[in-house]
Amino acid sequence: MKTVICFLCLLIIILSISCKEETTTDNKQAQIDSLKTIISQLKPGLGEFMLQIRYHHDSLGKAILNKDYERAAYETDELKETAEKINQLNITNDKLQKPFALFYEKYLQSPLTSLADAAAKKDDASLKNNFTALTNNCNSCHHENNMAFMKIGQ
Ligand code: HEC
Repeated sequence: MKTVICFLCLLIIILSISCKEETTTDNKQAQIDSLKTIISQLKPGLGEFMLQIRYHHDSLGKAILNKDYERAAYETDELKETAEKINQLNITNDKLQKPFALFYEKYLQSPLTSLADAAAKKDDASLKNNFTALTNNCNSCHHENNMAFMKIGQ
């Protein structure tokens, strides 16, 4: 989360500085281009977001085992937020075959919705089943995106 917050703060600073400058059209275009480069350099990589996702995935697994429904709801929400951030920032890399948003819909959206619902209802069986589905889907997406060796365990 901290990386993302730092990144967003930097982005706001850069954008506010750039807005104050008065320059010719050519200069402006050059500035826009260089800002675009800086923005792409500042964006966290997909791997960094995946480390956050793994942290929340593992914490969710522990919360389910401990029947800590509040924590389970929190971690589910964090997983959703992290995935949404990847979508918003259009994070991509050479391994990803299609935009992340498509894989989010295919693999994460449904188990995360069910997990949030199960945590609210304190439904242990549904939490366990959907957590297994979620982990399997992590691995399916890794398989589909040249990362088959990246096997996530329960
Ligand atoms: C788009 C489909 C997709 C989904 C869904 C997905 N991953 Fe990933 N994951 C990737 C890709 C692609 C990489 C390789 C990133 C890179 O090149 O740095 C990756 C890498 C990782 C890594 C290695 C990160 C590193 O830098 O060491 C971990 C850990 C990981 N994913 C965990 C998960 C977990 C846990 C889930 C499920 C909650 C998940 N992933 C869901 C595509 C996905």
